[in-house]
Amino acid sequence: MSTIANDIQHYRQQWGEDLLILGHHYQDSSIIPFCDAVGDSLELSRIAAASKAKRIVFCGVRFMAETADVLSRALDGIDNGRRVYQPAPNAGCPMADMATADALEAAWQHITAITPNVEWVPIVYVNSSADVKAFCGRHGGAACTSGNGHHIVKHFLDQGKHILFAPDQHLCTNILRELGYPPSAVCLWDRDLPDGGLTSADIQSATLIAWNGCCPIHAGYTTADLNNARERLPNAKMLIHPEAPSPVAAQADKTGSTKAIIDAVKQAVAGERLLIGTEDHLVQRLIANYPELTIEPIRPIICEDMGLTTPEQLLRVLKDWPEDTLVRVEDDLIADARCCVQRMLEI
Ligand code: 13P
Ligand code: SF4
Repeated sequence: MSTIANDIQHYRQQWGEDLLILGHHYQDSSIIPFCDAVGDSLELSRIAAASKAKRIVFCGVRFMAETADVLSRALDGIDNGRRVYQPAPNAGCPMADMATADALEAAWQHITAITPNVEWVPIVYVNSSADVKAFCGRHGGAACTSGNGHHIVKHFLDQGKHILFAPDQHLCTNILRELGYPPSAVCLWDRDLPDGGLTSADIQSATLIAWNGCCPIHAGYTTADLNNARERLPNAKMLIHPEAPSPVAAQADKTGSTKAIIDAVKQAVAGERLLIGTEDHLVQRLIANYPELTIEPIRPIICEDMGLTTPEQLLRVLKDWPEDTLVRVEDDLIADARCCVQRMLEI
């Protein structure tokens, strides 16, 4: 074992149960062996919520570490001493940056003023800032992940509510497709245009308005990518993440979160062929871990932010707990942001 690996293990042992290291499935394979839990954003939120560890070290991107911080703060607002650290402090999510709380609040005021007799609710993908989650919690909404989005959206639609969904338009359209709605059911709010580029009539006739954000990595998948992949590996089962555009994802055999993709790989029988449309750190690990299957990426895509975490940075946190790696959401956002995430975990 290298010195860095030895040192990381030394600190893990020293901290024992007071330390929880979480890693998202898109982390590099050099990080995974040091994680107490590896999961998708939903699983990691649940683990962070249940944990009593004094220090959570989140190997992932900003919104994930913020969510862990929101969930680990004391309900009475008194400092419980628990802290969340992110070894790669600059690792963000370009999709999360596409929706700000101010822009959402302005959209919300506009939409609700035009439709005074309609009950609207915001749903925000966990890939969003704590500020955006606080906006959502304040207006009675809930977060969702790629793993539970259809469940959360259905919950509110069944109550007769209309939905403002942000920031991922593709996740939203994929969820609605899964629930049996046509693509025209989504009314798109263009964040660069006044009033979202929508007329009053557009808003009055909409049941669901989706923010026009997207994951720049997954949104790049095209029908040509899927066709090329099928030519390369005929008779393969095709699995794709719901951040891919819905008309493209609809051509795959299954659309699912990173966990759903991994579960489908686990259930495959020896000799089976699989084409996977998600971030390549995960796809390469699946290829290495399941040699009895033939697995290939539909097209390799890399989230540079997810790849920023290194064992050196992890060791730096465990050794020195540097200030620049501490993730501390502003106190006045905690209660509302927590409502938003907690509602998701309870629905
Ligand atoms: P999961 O919800 O599948 O973990 O995905 C998170 C993410 O950032 C995908 O790009
Ligand atoms: Fe954000 Fe896309 Fe990277 Fe996921 S893969 S963290 S959505 S940029």
